[in-house]
Amino acid sequence: MIPEVVQAMVRLLEVKDLSTAAHTWRVVLYTRALAEDANLDRAIVERLTYAAALHDIGKLDIPDAILQKPGKLTDEEFEVMKTHTTLGHDHLRGMGEDDPIAVGLVRHHHERWDGLGYPDGLSGESIPLAARYFAVVDSFDAMTSIRPYRATIGERAAQAAMEEIIASRGSRYAPDAVDRFRSLYDAGTFDWIRSHFNDKSQVPGYAGLDAVDLVLPPSRG
Ligand SMILES: [Fe+2]
Repeated sequence: MIPEVVQAMVRLLEVKDLSTAAHTWRVVLYTRALAEDANLDRAIVERLTYAAALHDIGKLDIPDAILQKPGKLTDEEFEVMKTHTTLGHDHLRGMGEDDPIAVGLVRHHHERWDGLGYPDGLSGESIPLAARYFAVVDSFDAMTSIRPYRATIGERAAQAAMEEIIASRGSRYAPDAVDRFRSLYDAGTFDWIRSHFNDKSQVPGYAGLDAVDLVLPPSRG
């Protein structure tokens, strides 16, 4: 995928979805940390980085009235929201994207290990590996983002999110994905990402892979 196209699509989504650039940066950097910890090839890390940045790209095709609704969605609205997975998949395929990592992650990032997720109700190892790992990343970030209704923030929110994810190990989440995420969390690998790219800080829009290297902390070399 062409980096400029990824950036442009992510920017469009941030405007439409009212989500923050910080969210994109965080999920991209968590994903990259996991991939690097697994010693994956540089080329695979790059593909995973794009896939993470584009995970919710199907929301471009969801009506604003649903996407930007401040309150809870009705059941009917939630059914429409769920189609962001298949719409995103179709969108990428329509652009000629055929990287199985990107199209698989976009389509399957809301599947659950126990088969109760969407859009296809896949279970266990039939869920693409990248999507199984990204499900943990996306949930952790959702649970630790600043929301008007959330009382706990910062360290307490992160700890609570980690405990909730561990409690759903083997039901909602793939056991190996939880274990690897947890070991990086315990090692403090994610701390700088959460503190630097928090929802109150003004961070530049997602700017692609080269910029990811620029924002790595000095200790990473
Ligand atoms: Fe999503």
